[in-house]
Amino acid sequence: MDKFIIKGGRRLTGEVIISGAKNAAVAILPAVILSDEPCVIENVPSISDVNISIRILKEMGAGVEYLGNCTYRIDPTTIDKFCVPYETARKMRASYYFLGALLGKFKKARVSMPGGCPLGDRPIDQHLKAFTALGSEYNLSQGMIDLKAEKLEGNQIFFDVVTVGATMNAMLAAVRAEGLTVIENAAKEPHIVDLANFLNAMGANIIGAGTDVIKIKGVDHLHGTTYSVIPDQIEAGTFMVAVAATKGDVLIKNVIPKHLESITKKLEKIGVNIQQFDDSVRVWVDGPLVKTNVKTAPHPGFPTDMQSQIATLLTLAEGTSIITENIWEQRFRYVDELRRMGADITVNGKVALIEGKGKLMGAPVKACDLRAGAALIIAGLAASGVTEIEDIFHIERGYDCMEGKLRALGADIEKVSVPDSQSKPEKQNGREAV
Ligand code: EPZ
Repeated sequence: MDKFIIKGGRRLTGEVIISGAKNAAVAILPAVILSDEPCVIENVPSISDVNISIRILKEMGAGVEYLGNCTYRIDPTTIDKFCVPYETARKMRASYYFLGALLGKFKKARVSMPGGCPLGDRPIDQHLKAFTALGSEYNLSQGMIDLKAEKLEGNQIFFDVVTVGATMNAMLAAVRAEGLTVIENAAKEPHIVDLANFLNAMGANIIGAGTDVIKIKGVDHLHGTTYSVIPDQIEAGTFMVAVAATKGDVLIKNVIPKHLESITKKLEKIGVNIQQFDDSVRVWVDGPLVKTNVKTAPHPGFPTDMQSQIATLLTLAEGTSIITENIWEQRFRYVDELRRMGADITVNGKVALIEGKGKLMGAPVKACDLRAGAALIIAGLAASGVTEIEDIFHIERGYDCMEGKLRALGADIEKVSVPDSQSKPEKQNGREAV
């Protein structure tokens, strides 16, 4: 397995360019299936979750060509398989977007129950609620989900909880259904809007994405298009926190400042300076970090995917900060690793109490999920001494060349390979061979 070795204490300075959004790309790539013609997708991040999505499309028979510069040309007209096997699907939560796309196009799908981050219970009842509302039957057996529909008809779908994945899947299944679908209590994340914009670019008829009511008029045909994935809101937020943790000064480019609003507001409360431009933000610190309370919430609230990163920053502020995690039941698993670095954090259910000491010490630690891994990188950058982070395959699922971007900002971080007898995770570096 690979690991990161970080020598902490270096300020991050300079400029960094943010890659395309993981949580948009992993929905847009399956959505190409719905088209009757080839599509070109630009600004696709080079991360293992994308590699898995590309591999699934190829295994289904789609034509996939990497055109260079983060761009793929995908031809869905040659797809002749409608199953996503267990060994591929289990590695990535977003594999369930193939359910909505295959159902929407072919009225059938067979996908393994999703894998993904160990954040606690990750049910799919709302996805199934959407699919059945549109006329699909489903069968769960031996870890596989089977969908089948004689025809798909628009309907009213009211989600019991705000769910990104089910909102995406409902859109995917409804765009070619007959008639009007109204999704209520919809998620409003930037990647929801990005998927809707992509589908509309192919000729779909979707209004209201980004609000809690999305209306979809089904169409018979979706044509090819060229589409660029939005910048990654969470990668940008992660870099903003890393700059703050090292008291650096960095211009973060290729961002949509509006998508960063809740992160920007919270960092300013912590004492971080942020100057916004059209497609970039400058982040710098010239004073003490201030203890602050954080509650995660669906967009436009503070993103749960930034919770572990902001918690790490708050260990560097003097005093008591309180983090409340309202989305996932087990998103404090990184705390044990931060404690090894000297953090004083008490967790009680969905609340973490952080006694900021203003410093951290390097130590060997392990990434337990994607954003926890990002938090440990931030901790290592800020800590005195050396931090070694194992299981970085979690991090490479969602961050495009993190160590290269950090090194260019002055961080002392390197990736080293260590012999490992266990099976290798999904291909990490470079692109899936297409
Ligand atoms: C997406 O996961 C993201 N993943 C997650 O990001 C993110 O944390 C999450 O949305 C919330 O923003 C991708 O987009 C690939 P949900 P998803 O459905 O869709 C409950 C990362 O770090 N729920 O919005 O799986 C669920 O238990 C990853 O990039 C149901 O009850 O999340 C949770 O409490 C980690 N029934 C809440 O809704 C369902 O059918 C939000 O889940 C579905 C969800």
